[in-house]
Amino acid sequence: MSRMGPAISVISMPQGITLYFTFASAMQGDEAMNAIVDRGWVGRLKRAPELDAETYGEFCESMRSFIFGPMSKAIAPQVAAVIEKAKTAGRDLERVNDVRAIFDPLPIVTARNRLLRSAQEMMWRRYRETFHAQDDVFRSELATYDHKGPGTVAYDADWDPPAYVKHPIHIQPGGYGGDPLVGYWYHHASNVFFIGANTQDEYHLSLAAATRVPKDGKMSRILELGCSIGQLTVTLKERFPNAQVYGLDVAAPQVRYAHKRAAELGVECHFVQRLAEDTKFPDGHFDAVTAFLLFHEVSLEAGVKIVQEAFRILRPGGIFTVFDFPTGHKNNDPYFTYFMDVDSKDNCEPYSVGFTGSDFDGLLKKTGFMVERGEQDIMLACTTYAEKPA
Ligand SMILES: C[S@@+](CC[C@H](N)C(=O)[O-])C[C@H]1O[C@@H](n2cnc3c(N)ncnc32)[C@H](O)[C@@H]1O
Repeated sequence: MSRMGPAISVISMPQGITLYFTFASAMQGDEAMNAIVDRGWVGRLKRAPELDAETYGEFCESMRSFIFGPMSKAIAPQVAAVIEKAKTAGRDLERVNDVRAIFDPLPIVTARNRLLRSAQEMMWRRYRETFHAQDDVFRSELATYDHKGPGTVAYDADWDPPAYVKHPIHIQPGGYGGDPLVGYWYHHASNVFFIGANTQDEYHLSLAAATRVPKDGKMSRILELGCSIGQLTVTLKERFPNAQVYGLDVAAPQVRYAHKRAAELGVECHFVQRLAEDTKFPDGHFDAVTAFLLFHEVSLEAGVKIVQEAFRILRPGGIFTVFDFPTGHKNNDPYFTYFMDVDSKDNCEPYSVGFTGSDFDGLLKKTGFMVERGEQDIMLACTTYAEKPA
């Protein structure tokens, strides 16, 4: 057998995207294995190890695109008609059972729910399978990057995190921390979730841009809580290159992947596996703390502790920027109530309904923050700025 190196073709696409194709057919052993894995990048997303998985993911994307595009358009007038009818009949549409009673009988709505669930199941399963097919290669890649910079990662493989992070959130097999390779398949699947529009971290770049700087302009230390695979952490470091930027997450596989990816991009971030409610950082340590889509995924009790912890580790004048689902004040749309209930049950989001119904602004204020609503809504997330008084 020949021991030739991999043949690489490079194709430049519009919008600065470069596609790299690697051919492995003339190799064997480790060399062939590595070449199969390395299929180049699309934007800032390293390509999946198999073209088949990628096209399957694109199919799931098109399902989501159909559900949130033409299907939602077709649903809207039917939803409006049953709301109107219920209101005319004097029916109360505040409780979940009331909204389920009017929307569940609509076949197009239940078809939408089923399709959404299937797309979700399909994307997790296919991407998970493709990375586990080369389990040893990816485990060893993570182990190599554990000790390679730029940046660092700190985790404790023996730490047993609280039970609530182990449930299969978003029907993800093993949740965030139960599968050593979750970072790899979560990255690809979350790109499907964003309907392919986040290969360059576009959403995270807008979140980093919307992260508020304290009035005195000092931005030396920044922390992202619930950083997952580190996309916001990386974009924050890119926006504030002179700051020390940390990403914290309870799941070791997520912070390990986050570090590997940041190091591959050449961005120096520091990732730690810790609880957001007990970060171990000193009082007043950070100028800015952020959290994107963390609060709706934790219990209300944990949420209270996380807000208190953010207050403790921010210095006076420091700002906590929170991007998450709208809470209480905006939550008076019956179809939104229905959507949240379906998502909570069909998509294993056990805490989202509690969060959207809670008075999050009130919690921030009670903790001592001064609160301001941000202009920008990103996906389902709205922006809240909470400033620690100087
Ligand atoms: C929806 S993801 C966050 C997405 C991420 N911020 C981004 O920019 O894409 C929620 C993350 O919060 C983490 N998490 C959940 N509970 C946590 C806790 N108590 N402390 C720290 N991280 C937590 C999960 O492991 C998961 O990675």
